[in-house]
Amino acid sequence: MNKEQNEPHEQGNGFSIHSLQFSALLTVIGVIVLFSTAVITILIAPSYIDSSWTSHSSPYQAQMYEIEDPNIYISSASSHGLDLQYVRHLKQDFTLLAFKESEEMRLLAPPELEKYITKLDGKTLKLTSRLLLIREPQDHFKEIANQRRAELQKQNTALIKAEPGKVVEKINYQFMELYDPKKNELFALDPLGAIIQNWVDENYLILDDSVKQKYHSDKGVIYAINPREYRVKQVRFGDIVRWRYDPEGMPVKSLEDLQGPGLDFHSRKELIYYGEHIYAIEGCWYCHTDQTRTLIQDVVLNGSDSFPAPPSSPNEYIYQKITFPGTRRIGPDLSRVAVKRPSRDWHKSHFWSPKTASAGSIMPSFRHFFDNDPRGTGKSAMGIPNHEFEAIFQYMMTKGTRITPPTQAWWLGNDPVQTKEIIEGKVKIR
Ligand code: HEC
Repeated sequence: MNKEQNEPHEQGNGFSIHSLQFSALLTVIGVIVLFSTAVITILIAPSYIDSSWTSHSSPYQAQMYEIEDPNIYISSASSHGLDLQYVRHLKQDFTLLAFKESEEMRLLAPPELEKYITKLDGKTLKLTSRLLLIREPQDHFKEIANQRRAELQKQNTALIKAEPGKVVEKINYQFMELYDPKKNELFALDPLGAIIQNWVDENYLILDDSVKQKYHSDKGVIYAINPREYRVKQVRFGDIVRWRYDPEGMPVKSLEDLQGPGLDFHSRKELIYYGEHIYAIEGCWYCHTDQTRTLIQDVVLNGSDSFPAPPSSPNEYIYQKITFPGTRRIGPDLSRVAVKRPSRDWHKSHFWSPKTASAGSIMPSFRHFFDNDPRGTGKSAMGIPNHEFEAIFQYMMTKGTRITPPTQAWWLGNDPVQTKEIIEGKVKIR
């Protein structure tokens, strides 16, 4: 009896446990399906919905970051004052070079290299991916340079004399020699040290057929102008060994040399990532946003010279490890700050003392971005920007410069809608 009574009971019990397990299983499967759909949607869908969310939107952006940035190295270790040294890492078939004459600077070359020179009156910029350099004229070029310089100088003086009423500038002509250093890789002094690079999008010609990079066939390209080899000389002050740029010095041999303890160069890319880290740990995002919304106040406030700025697009952020869209605007939005405030000096004084750069500012000063003047000769306590300043500055300088050539779409004052069309090549820029 007992057994009979128990049996159906047990059976019932077993059945309900079984159904419970089944629904639990269904729930687990459901959760997994939902979760993986969400993950797949987030990871894969963007590239199908709008590829610009996950890839760069213009050749300029790709070149600016993927090609140019990693090749610029910065160091303040020079004993030559506090100036920063900017050095480019040039590679054969990788970097585009231009050799362009200016009113003051003329170029000489052996016959086989003549074609690489863009003459003063040349309308088309000649570019090459061959690794060539310029230097002070040597051997027989020395004489030619002296002769031509004398001729030009004479013409210049005659011009000044001929029209005494008119102001004709006195020019000190300089001649340089174009030569083939027969190397595949080297370091060149950056003539400008500018953040926004040389850019050309029309009237250029790439001369060699050894064009190997995809971006060489794009509509616009970034190039290095008139590269000169970066040579350093060591100087001794008692026990201290320092270095400085010296045309007579030794060329830097390798990237390891450049980045090693002697010279201590950092790539711009490295500094940018470090800057991103500083932005996170200093809590800049607490007071600043990093997005130009489509709202009229944003495009106007972030614009320049009364021209509106293009609203932020997702591809601007693809190179960041962390993004900081932000929610509160205690301070101004920073998404276009590189174009609004490109001056290193302005940022220096602003981080040192925001109130003096911007009256009434409540932004805290960031004096740990500066070191004390080790010589103690400064009258004020004004510090020397250290690598933290350089990092945050380089990071700021990416904000707004990676959309499309700033000098093109938006400096020229085209509206945001047109900017998109310019990027897509639908509108011709005048
Ligand atoms: C307590 C809030 C606060 C914090 C934190 C803060 N800022 Fe600011 N920031 C402001 C305010 C307010 C202004 C506007 C006044 C001024 O120019 O100083 C400003 C202005 C700026 C500007 C000038 C922008 C422009 O368009 O004129 C920059 C650049 C800037 N901050 C960068 C930073 C960075 C980088 C950090 C982190 C290291 C930071 N700020 C942290 C409040 C803050």
